Amino acid sequence: MNVELKVRRVSTRKRSRVTRTHLTPLKKRREGKSPQNRRLMADVKPVECFSDSEDLFGGYDSILDDSSLLAKLDGVEHERQRKHQSTTYTDVDQQDYTSLQPSNAGKQRWTETLTDSILDDLQDEHLEELPSSQLHYLEQIDESVKRSRLQERNQTSTPSRTTDRTETQTNTEANAHRRRSVRRSVSDHLKTTMLCNASAPTNISRSVVLKEAVVSEEISVAMQAMETVSAESPDLGPFFGLPTKVKDLMYKLRGIRKLYDWQETCLNLDCVQQRRNLIYSLPTSGGKTLVAEILILKELLCRKRDCLFILPYISLVQEKVRGLASFGLELDFMVEEYAGSKGRFPPVKRTNKSSLYIATIEKAHSLVNSLIETNRIEKLGLTVVDELHMLGDGSRGATIEMTLAKVLYTSKTTQIIGMSATLGNIRDLQMFLKAENYTNDFRPVQLKEYVKLRDSIYEVDPREEECFKFSRALNFKYSGAMQRIDPDHIIALVTEVIPTHSCLVFCPTKKNCENVAGMICKYLKEEFLQHRQAEKAILLRELRDSGNGSVCPVLKKTVPFGLAYHHSGLTSEERKLMEEAYSSGVLCLLTCTSTLAAGVNLPARRVILRSPYVATDFLKRSQYKQMVGRAGRAGIDSVGESILIVQEKDRQMTKTLVCSPTENCYSHLMHDDGKGLQSLILSLIGLNVATSSDQLREFLHGTLLSVQQEQLCVEKSLWQVVQQSVEVLKEKQLITVASEEHNNTLQVTKLGKATYKGSVDLTYSDVLYRDLWKGLEGLLLNSYLHLVYLVTPYDLISQCRPDWMIYFRQFTLLSAAEQKMSAAVGVPESFVARKAAGQTVKKDVNSAVVTRMYLALVLFSLLKETNLWSVAERFQLSRGFVQTLLSSSSAFCCCVLHFTEELEEFWPFKALLTELTRRLSYCVTAELVPLMEVAGVMESRAKQLYNAGYKTLTHLANADPALLSSTIENLYRTRAQQIVASAKMLLNEKAAALQEEVNELLTTPSDLPQPPPRPLDAPTKKQ
Ligand SMILES: Nc1ncnc2c1ncn2[C@@H]1O[C@H](COP(=O)(O)OP(=O)(O)OP(=O)(O)O)[C@@H](O)[C@H]1O
Ligand SMILES: [Mg+2]
Repeated sequence: MNVELKVRRVSTRKRSRVTRTHLTPLKKRREGKSPQNRRLMADVKPVECFSDSEDLFGGYDSILDDSSLLAKLDGVEHERQRKHQSTTYTDVDQQDYTSLQPSNAGKQRWTETLTDSILDDLQDEHLEELPSSQLHYLEQIDESVKRSRLQERNQTSTPSRTTDRTETQTNTEANAHRRRSVRRSVSDHLKTTMLCNASAPTNISRSVVLKEAVVSEEISVAMQAMETVSAESPDLGPFFGLPTKVKDLMYKLRGIRKLYDWQETCLNLDCVQQRRNLIYSLPTSGGKTLVAEILILKELLCRKRDCLFILPYISLVQEKVRGLASFGLELDFMVEEYAGSKGRFPPVKRTNKSSLYIATIEKAHSLVNSLIETNRIEKLGLTVVDELHMLGDGSRGATIEMTLAKVLYTSKTTQIIGMSATLGNIRDLQMFLKAENYTNDFRPVQLKEYVKLRDSIYEVDPREEECFKFSRALNFKYSGAMQRIDPDHIIALVTEVIPTHSCLVFCPTKKNCENVAGMICKYLKEEFLQHRQAEKAILLRELRDSGNGSVCPVLKKTVPFGLAYHHSGLTSEERKLMEEAYSSGVLCLLTCTSTLAAGVNLPARRVILRSPYVATDFLKRSQYKQMVGRAGRAGIDSVGESILIVQEKDRQMTKTLVCSPTENCYSHLMHDDGKGLQSLILSLIGLNVATSSDQLREFLHGTLLSVQQEQLCVEKSLWQVVQQSVEVLKEKQLITVASEEHNNTLQVTKLGKATYKGSVDLTYSDVLYRDLWKGLEGLLLNSYLHLVYLVTPYDLISQCRPDWMIYFRQFTLLSAAEQKMSAAVGVPESFVARKAAGQTVKKDVNSAVVTRMYLALVLFSLLKETNLWSVAERFQLSRGFVQTLLSSSSAFCCCVLHFTEELEEFWPFKALLTELTRRLSYCVTAELVPLMEVAGVMESRAKQLYNAGYKTLTHLANADPALLSSTIENLYRTRAQQIVASAKMLLNEKAAALQEEVNELLTTPSDLPQPPPRPLDAPTKKQ
């Protein structure tokens, strides 16, 4: 009994220490860190992961939500940083920090940065805007504070260091603005309460406790408000049912002072307040995300449920994780990243905090599967899907549909919110999700669409018979040579806006992006070179650092003029540098492919579409809308304009493109010969959600495919399609029928289970099985090549054509054992040698295997030397492609790992693939891995941080953002704050995961066999 008590006590103290790490001063934490605790931290295992084919841009990274605001903030920040550096204040501060003997002023500042809420920096003007309910609440608190103040003076059990700090704080606060006293009175009251409770000494900073207490008080007020709210009373509590602190954070972290009218209306809708499902659709840049975020916070804080936020790209997930980590730290919830190779399945069970899972489409599907499997789906209070219209987008659309249909079917309490661009058939989506709809055509900046035909510009006007209304003739004088080089007058169009304003030029191909950027530069005046010259020099230096000394020759020429190109051939570091430089105005023009419009929020004063094609395909209306939607930067431009350059031959098609009604969105479960439907049925059977024909039929009634069956199931009824899919799965030996006694119940085979657990594409599951089986017969373990070959993604094979000379050269560099292994899988040296010599080879080889081995050689070189640039050059591939190959392989490696875990015969792979996943995920030198785990920290930044002394996650989590941004070149304070917040969140997440594990280990099972109750009159058993 004693022992148990002791264990519990340790556990509780440890938990409080762990869960508050982010707000506890570094020194205190060092003092409080027990060896046991340290051991726990060191034992952190790499995160398990699944895979996906989620992105065009792989692990691509991008700017924050409001790039324009960030640009402004960063500009001010930069200026401030410059001034700041020249004052003695920073010098003193740095000296104090490094000597570890801080002066009083320095010490106080340092400690405050580590312990205090960022809200301390906020002006209290928000209080003026408090709703009456909140003011009344504050008055009540004030009253009770007066009553308890006497009691407070006489008692304290807090260690002296904390007391000192509190005194200093109190003195400072005494001089503060009068309005501030309102908030202080709340703190005082709570301080008293906390002190009375503090019978045991604690390592937790008192101000931390107070702040957390204030927030939880506010949350409980909000919760009460939510509970008591009646249909007649629109008063939802301080801020849409949330504490005022959320409003303050929105201002502090986002610069958003007031919601747009439509956002308020939407949040006040009856269906939103009653937590019914909702789809809301608005044009690009309408501010849709904010509404979703407020609803997520309500769910996390007021209902204490977990939330899932689904975004289409890894870059967007990372951006959101970074943006919401500070909210999580301030409001005490977890933010967990599910993208690329990150994410745990099932997620860690948290008893004391809610979690926000931010996931890509594929990871969200795996997450929902794992929640269903572990009976935890009801804990998911809200699922938000951004870009819901992607339901109609190939296999990724099918995955969104499966995920949502499963949530709808298995959890009646999970609310679903979808955000979408305007769609023609939104009613279909409403029927599918049983959702209400809110539509508005609000746009913060007016968008003017133009078309350029020959020398004239026409305004797009659907009311005009011709769709185009003459606006102006282009005013320019081209020489004959220039006319030949630039027949579409792109230079004339861009020089109307740059360098004062920003411009995006969408091009049909990657190569064209580079050519157009180079061409424009040739004709720009010298003055362009002088514009923000110093910052452009820094950018070039950073590009060189990110490329280990190499810079792209095109960028080397264009950047000094303020121009750059942006497409998937660049590494993610390069793209990120371009994005940051563009949003802060250092670059004034980007030439890019259509993927930029979907992936990142980079607005421009003028958007030019160089032609109405993507590669050789004519633009779809949704693509066009995405691209032109980038025009107009909220808060900076009064108007945004788009110009589509059209040739006479495309006039008719362009008319349809710009003036036709919005597109419809259709289910893609039947896409690719019904592969989506088959994998849905497989997982439904595997998860025991539906195991008979009747249950499958019932489930499928709840899909978008069922809503649209009249349009989509023309030749066969939905039911026939389902039966056909079941037969295909049986043929592939992924499912079987249990014996007759079990009513013909369907069940998955081991291979079937491995396939859906590993999220392996049905097309490849049997090939993968065969390859792995063959691999086991002679697994080469003194080199990575064989293992790397086994996890090289099948779907990238079609994107690469080997260069036989390079192939042969690399082949000859392999060891004898490696060459033997290659021959065993089907690529003999003789074949490669003949191909390199240009001979035709009659021998029957499988070309997919040959190309796969070529890709494996690329990966093998990368693992050996970790230099993306030199490997890309050696294989004559774009560095962007090599990076995509690497990230897809790490994701697929996870898939294969989970696949093999379900099949006993593959037991040796478990340990091997776990390590290989880690190596492929962070293909950098080992010391940089912990830093690169932080959302959005890439190799070059990790190197800078490491060299500056921030060597571990813990260093980064405890870093002072101000110091960080003054130490690291070109790292603005806002960005430094985000990095620190993300590191803190990750550290908390890891610590909490370990803590949960400890708790689970120490909890007595509820079904522990108990002795049967003894009847009262039963005689006691005698020995
Ligand atoms: N109330 C507001 N006041 C000021 N700025 C806002 C407000 N709401 C949102 N914004 C800003 O507007 C910008 C665009 O918002 P958001 O990204 O949510 O648009 P969206 O509707 O999702 O557009 P898209 O369809 O392009 O994704 C963001 O930078 C966001 O911070
Ligand atoms: Mg959006």
